[in-house]
Amino acid sequence: MPEIVQHIPVLLDEVLEYLSPEEGESYLDLTAGYGGHATQVLAITQAEATLVDRDENAHHSLSELFRDNKNVRLIQKDFEQASIELADSGQTFDIILADLGISSPHIDNKQRGFSIKQDGPLDMRMDQAQEKSAETVVNTYSQEALATLLKKYGEEPKAEKIARLIVEARPIATTGQLASIVAKAWPGYSKVHPATRTFQAIRIEVNDELGQLERSLPLWVSLLSKHGRLGIITFHSLEDRVVKHFFKEHSGDRYDAKLELVTAKAIVAGSEELVHNPRARSAKLRVVKRK
Ligand SMILES: C[S@@+](CC[C@H](N)C(=O)[O-])C[C@H]1O[C@@H](n2cnc3c(N)ncnc32)[C@H](O)[C@@H]1O
Repeated sequence: MPEIVQHIPVLLDEVLEYLSPEEGESYLDLTAGYGGHATQVLAITQAEATLVDRDENAHHSLSELFRDNKNVRLIQKDFEQASIELADSGQTFDIILADLGISSPHIDNKQRGFSIKQDGPLDMRMDQAQEKSAETVVNTYSQEALATLLKKYGEEPKAEKIARLIVEARPIATTGQLASIVAKAWPGYSKVHPATRTFQAIRIEVNDELGQLERSLPLWVSLLSKHGRLGIITFHSLEDRVVKHFFKEHSGDRYDAKLELVTAKAIVAGSEELVHNPRARSAKLRVVKRK
């Protein structure tokens, strides 16, 4: 049975300030994880909530956490599929939150294969039932396809070289092996592990993270009730760019604009939060409101 784990929610005060939940409002959490944000929002709204996560362990923790709360409905699906189904059923929500990416339990459990620092299997799947894993990408993609994804999703300057090193070293079985192969492209000391960009790129590819986000954004607008608020927390510039452009395009003075910006600029963590939660370092929150 999956263990119940802790995850410190990022930008919690800011989420509550800018999404400004009120008693009686409905809530859709698209990346409910370990329920950190959801617990706090629900304490205020005390109303119906739909919590989505595609990860089995997260789903298990959520069902324990909200076992006695009749207002909570859990959905174990990716957020694109869940949003399609919710939109088809004509539901709308007053508050929607997407806190993207992986959670600290993903990184901390070396068996999940997300960690550069701990050796584990090449997995990186958020949805453990999915077929494609990091093993598939690392051992079966062509050198050219690897180089392209390292550039596109990792913004890796040495993408060509790393793709060649990976193909030459096949078969690769563990995250430790992959990290040391990539490190050969970047000799010398660096504070950030030289495989960080490669791991990010492979993770985005395995979980179709940008595709899920791009296809879901229009659905999320249609899931907002009048004056409903949508908040998105991103953890890297690729995601933030997608959100920023989408929000900009659908707000402003356009005659058909459905949204207005609640946050003119991305909100980042204050120094106090960074002391307690280093994961918040790269977090950015953007919020819009449905007109
Ligand atoms: C940063 S964590 C969220 C933590 C949560 N806000 C909390 O306070 O506990 C992101 C979660 O989103 C889930 N996730 C990421 N992308 C997803 C997607 N496309 N569909 C469904 N769940 C997703 C991950 O499995 C992970 O549990």
